[in-house]
Amino acid sequence: MASATERATRTEWAVATLGDGAEVLIRPSRPDDAERLRRMFYRLSSTTIYRRFFTGAPHVPQWAERVASLGVADGERKYALVAFSGDETVGIAHYMRLEPGDTGEVGILIEDAWQGRGLGGMLLERLAAAAMSRGIATFTGSVLGENRRAARLVAKTFAGAAFTWSDGEYAVRVLLGRQPGEGM
Ligand SMILES: CC(C)(COP(=O)(O)OP(=O)(O)OC[C@H]1O[C@@H](n2cnc3c(N)ncnc32)[C@H](O)[C@@H]1OP(=O)(O)O)[C@@H](O)C(=O)NCCC(=O)NCCS
Repeated sequence: MASATERATRTEWAVATLGDGAEVLIRPSRPDDAERLRRMFYRLSSTTIYRRFFTGAPHVPQWAERVASLGVADGERKYALVAFSGDETVGIAHYMRLEPGDTGEVGILIEDAWQGRGLGGMLLERLAAAAMSRGIATFTGSVLGENRRAARLVAKTFAGAAFTWSDGEYAVRVLLGRQPGEGM
């Protein structure tokens, strides 16, 4: 018999249409996504790599492996959603549960050709829904000060998101399930 987690996971598949008409499949990550995520890494610009990992990184196999590992998730402690165009991954959003507690640390990465098309927002909303159904109440994360797109995405997606500035980065904290207009 399927476990509650397996049953929940099956409902987290979706085909979504972006504003420009492109279709993407969004689903929880699987071990066989690793090779696609490695290929996606080689399509990332240096700016995208820097904004996601806060450091420059060359297009070498060790870094491809690091991106592949973003999709390694057990669905409970770590959960990841991947977006596909055809058979290739074009984005991934994930959280890691900080133990003990009900906080998830979030990361998100959309490949360059798919940025600014609404995919990041879709992934974050679905990630938040999956997290809440697994008992996560708070998301945390870090955004580089120069990364206006990511900051806007968070502010737009989550009502009452709190940004704390320190050393060139924003520490972001979001109470999940808040409605627009509610404060932090
Ligand atoms: C940051 C990121 C996840 C956003 O995802 P995305 O799919 O590009 O974003 P969306 O298309 O959903 O846009 C989100 C908002 O940002 C705004 N935005 C888009 N491009 C922008 C730009 N160049 N400058 C400022 N804001 C911008 C959009 O206006 C949108 O708000 P709107 O719908 O009100 O217009 C994605 O660009 C990315 O992976 N960047 C590199 C890695 C990274 O920065 N990760 C986040 C830190 S972990």
